Amino acid sequence: RMLDVCSDSAELGPYRHYMQKEIFEQPVALANTLNQALAAGFAPTLFGEDAAAIFTTATAIRIIACGSSYHAGLVARYWIEAYTGMPVSVDIASEYRYSQGLEQRGTLIIAISQSGETADLLAAIRNAKERGEVKILALCNVAHSTLTREADLSLLTQAGLEIGVASTKAFTTQLAALYVLAGSLANARQTLSEAQLLELANWLPRLPAMISAVLSQESEMENWAQALTHFEHALYLGRNTLFPIALEGALKLKEIAYIHAEGYAAGELKHGPLALVDEDMPIIVCAANDSLFEKLMSNLREVEARGGQIYLIAEPGCEAALPYVKSALILPISTGPLAPIVFSIPLQLLAYHTAHRKGTDVDKPRNLAKSVTVE
Ligand code: G6P
Repeated sequence: RMLDVCSDSAELGPYRHYMQKEIFEQPVALANTLNQALAAGFAPTLFGEDAAAIFTTATAIRIIACGSSYHAGLVARYWIEAYTGMPVSVDIASEYRYSQGLEQRGTLIIAISQSGETADLLAAIRNAKERGEVKILALCNVAHSTLTREADLSLLTQAGLEIGVASTKAFTTQLAALYVLAGSLANARQTLSEAQLLELANWLPRLPAMISAVLSQESEMENWAQALTHFEHALYLGRNTLFPIALEGALKLKEIAYIHAEGYAAGELKHGPLALVDEDMPIIVCAANDSLFEKLMSNLREVEARGGQIYLIAEPGCEAALPYVKSALILPISTGPLAPIVFSIPLQLLAYHTAHRKGTDVDKPRNLAKSVTVE
């Protein structure tokens, strides 16, 4: 099914919808986005001439975005904090622009936007400049957009034209670019050893093939979609970098399948959503085979004991969870620090097939626009 070229063409080819086409273009979109970065290593110059100086002297990081781009920012916080030790905050643009407070001198503002034209985001970065001596780094999928023109530094994702209103390849290429940014910040600030940087970099060339491997599990998500169409609510859970992916999975299901869905940090279950759990509430859980797996296991037990139906997406090595779940998708590969990129794929396919089964207008969901250029 996969196309060899990530074309900017509006041809659907063998696909039913643009969203489906764009999901399957991800190996190529990611390879294109990483192309330059792989050659550069984690050299800050990838982001602009002044990047090395700005990265070295930055005192704090604030990420600002909307929608799926905001979720990409939430993932980036985990990477940047882990690799640089810098304080990172993440704000929704429509909130930031009307909030108050000064920016600490030397704050690096990272603005993430597929279009580079989202009105709230543009207002937010203009507003940030008035709050203090800040620098703006734009991560954008459109060259010469308003956002890139107003930024001090920028990196273009190479997702190609994205037509489906629900973001897929733009989102995962943003994540890839943010991972490169985290590595580049660590490189400039010398917060990781050469060996640690190399280990982070070594994951990147493998990413397109990892994504292709997960795309080949599409039929299992079609099976889950069949079950999901009968529900009115769904809960998505994850921890660490998979917490924002749970938010993004829930957003996809809301946007295109019109099913009320919420993403939650698994550790927050007992602070509210556990009260909703019964046999009518499917729970989609993302599990990485990492140091938090045991914690996630206790969350699964809490849900299972209350009759919750768990649909588990897990890395190899998480098989101990199988007795507690209704259905499981074990990924064909280990995902390491790229887990949030890889886990996005089955969640996109699940939302897509659920929406298709329900017969919604997948590429143009009701009431939504691709680019929100007015407030
Ligand atoms: C709209 C789109 C989303 C997108 C958001 C932010 O809501 O439907 O897919 O994530 O805007 O757009 P941006 O272009 O700033 O990333």
